[in-house]
Amino acid sequence: MRPVRDAIRSMITTMVAETSSSSQPRVYLETYGCQMNIADSQTVIAILRRAGYATTEDAAQADVILLNTCAIREHAEDRVLGRLSDLARLKDTRAERKLGLLGCMAQHNRAALMKKAPWLDLVAGPDSYRRLPQLLADAALDPTVDVRLDRTETYADISPAYENSVRAYVTAMRGCDKFCAFCVVPYVRGRERSIPAADIVREVQQLAAREVKEVVLLGQTVNAYRYEQIRFGQLLRMVAAVDGIERVRFTSPHPSDMTSDLIETMAEEPKVQPYLHLPVQSGSDRILCAMGRGYTISQYLGLVGRLRSAIPDLALSTDIIVGFHGEEEQDFAATLGLMRTVGYDSAFMFKYSVREHTRASQLGDTVSDAEKGRRLREVISLQETISLERNRALLGSEYPVLVEGPARRGEGRLVGKTPQFKTAVFPATPSIRPGDIVRARVTSATAHSLVTTLV
Ligand code: SAH
Ligand code: SF4
Ligand code: F3S
Repeated sequence: MRPVRDAIRSMITTMVAETSSSSQPRVYLETYGCQMNIADSQTVIAILRRAGYATTEDAAQADVILLNTCAIREHAEDRVLGRLSDLARLKDTRAERKLGLLGCMAQHNRAALMKKAPWLDLVAGPDSYRRLPQLLADAALDPTVDVRLDRTETYADISPAYENSVRAYVTAMRGCDKFCAFCVVPYVRGRERSIPAADIVREVQQLAAREVKEVVLLGQTVNAYRYEQIRFGQLLRMVAAVDGIERVRFTSPHPSDMTSDLIETMAEEPKVQPYLHLPVQSGSDRILCAMGRGYTISQYLGLVGRLRSAIPDLALSTDIIVGFHGEEEQDFAATLGLMRTVGYDSAFMFKYSVREHTRASQLGDTVSDAEKGRRLREVISLQETISLERNRALLGSEYPVLVEGPARRGEGRLVGKTPQFKTAVFPATPSIRPGDIVRARVTSATAHSLVTTLV
């Protein structure tokens, strides 16, 4: 995952490439939340295209406006409600325009949403996308709500409408069975289920034929993947065996499911890249236990040790929650200590947000918002220092960089990723194209990127 903070992460907005023909109804889709939602949006577009819809990047031109939403924190939901009321104004100019809410927030808030946002025509949860064409047709008469979770829905037969990019996110498993005390995901995404390995491999072969070079396998606890006898390590090897795919990554693994087979696969399979997002959440055993994470800090550090000895150049990132129920000053200090001990390359850090339905919602919120804010600023500032130190230690090193395209800032510069998923910027030359792998030497570093020259 990219080292972006909460605000940016919850804002990831994907627009789908425009396709049109004058007679087709047009759909506009905005995506919030994690990579799994981005992948789901591509499935939604594939389903709607099959049903005769065209896509547009301009909401004002759309017959159907959809937001694929996230429920992970209250802040994420507030943003969507704000955006919804803006988009609702477009209905004033054309009443038959449909406005729909998809995804985790739709599942989480269900019917209550229809009250909060009465202009909604459609509310559909993550397992209802196959029925979207019908739901949209029905919504012409009355608002429709479909939030049935389905233990078997994997959309395995639907080939998502991937963007043209060197990297593609491929869903390997859906749902989550871990029920961490703070987390809404198991309630909004339902039970864990894995996509048949043969379908994943077929998808990756099709991506390779479209010049995709890097595949990221997705799942909320992706390393819990199991389809018949195939476990995650074996799935990685199957995907890595696809010709044309140069790099394989995955996110997010759960520390409790990091088997020795998986560590061995990461160490031995050259296409599996040396980077792991390994969410820890807290550095305090007391808090980890209350969160129901299923590991202690000593077990987590043992795992980090095994990973680093098997994969010496491994980069690590993590997720941290500050201000969980009952988090005292010494628990917070333990989190800061853990961050220093591990020396993460980057981290996503969040203020605890109480979520309805979760186990922790019964416990209450013991840390004030102001105090959560202080703790958040402290972890962010510590992580900036650690990230900068770690990146500066790479000065003079050389890496193969998978070229993505023009850098956002700086004319004449290209951007790509090192195997450790660090952003590398380098001067453009006419012969270098997205998808190429170039060799780059680090000449300077910030906390978030490496400036390099080509060698
Ligand atoms: N499945 C992943 C996490 C997915 S959610 C895992 O277990 O690693 C992404 C991150 O959001 C979590 O790792 C956690 O740090 C954060 N998060 C989840 N619920 C939250 C809540 N109620 N308040 C604040 N942050 C939360
Ligand atoms: Fe949420 Fe825990 Fe599942 Fe991650 S493993 S999605 S934090 S319940
Ligand atoms: Fe958000 Fe749903 Fe992902 S709650 S983090 S979009 S699984």
